[in-house]
Amino acid sequence: MAYRKIKGVILAGGLGTRLMPLTKITNKHLLPVYNRPMIHWPILSLIDAGVTEIMIVTGGSFAGDFLQLLENGAEFGLRDIHYTYQKGEGGIAAALSLAEDFVDRDRIVVILGDNIFEKSLRPHVEAYRQQATGAKILLREVPDPQRFGVPELRGDKVVGIEEKPKAPKSSYAVTGVYMYDDYVWDIIRTLKPSGRGELEITDVNNAYIRRGDLTWGMIDGWWSDAGTFDSLLLASQLVSERERAKA
Ligand code: DAU
Repeated sequence: MAYRKIKGVILAGGLGTRLMPLTKITNKHLLPVYNRPMIHWPILSLIDAGVTEIMIVTGGSFAGDFLQLLENGAEFGLRDIHYTYQKGEGGIAAALSLAEDFVDRDRIVVILGDNIFEKSLRPHVEAYRQQATGAKILLREVPDPQRFGVPELRGDKVVGIEEKPKAPKSSYAVTGVYMYDDYVWDIIRTLKPSGRGELEITDVNNAYIRRGDLTWGMIDGWWSDAGTFDSLLLASQLVSERERAKA
């Protein structure tokens, strides 16, 4: 089977209002998670998964700081890093739509800039390379599913996803890694803003489910977002344990 080219898109826009006042003077993704700025962790995850053509979507008043911090990616062994700018906070799918020209007709691994994974994503990305068409999402069992996109599972199929449901239909979260083929751009063009005024990534995934073209994998090891005070602290603790165990 052909070795499919996969590009990476890191979404680091949004206003980070849940972390005010920390985000009054910087972008959320530049805050420290243990010994690195948050944005380093998704970059390292992509590179580790074999994805080295990367675009970062950022926004807000501090977008220039990303260029100063990351430059052209040489410190990660990258040839280049691509950047684009999201005006306002139109949602995760709106941020992703800005990467369409960069991605062209290739496939993508999208990773939310505040998501940190203990283990390598490589096995999941390799499995997706073998998938003929469609999307792949990654799940993780969590104690507080109502904070996330929550899948409804029937047998081994995800039959629907609800965004931050009050009564979750499972104890799993949809983590912030999404793999898509080029049909994603057509889906995004059909989306309407949700109740919170955003183009939701959950609506993109539900569109793939309706086509019968979404697979899922289960995350091995811990996973944390870092968008609230508690999850930011937890992410730092988890990363510190992992990094010190390596040393
Ligand atoms: O962390 C996983 C969860 O992320 C999923 O389970 C949910 O289904 C998904 O909607 C998302 O939920 P959050 O409400 O936690 O997403 P948040 O608004 O915090 O945005 C996560 C990242 O996405 C953020 O770090 C930057 C990027 N983003 C977000 C928005 C709203 C953008 O680039 N632009 C945006 O407009």
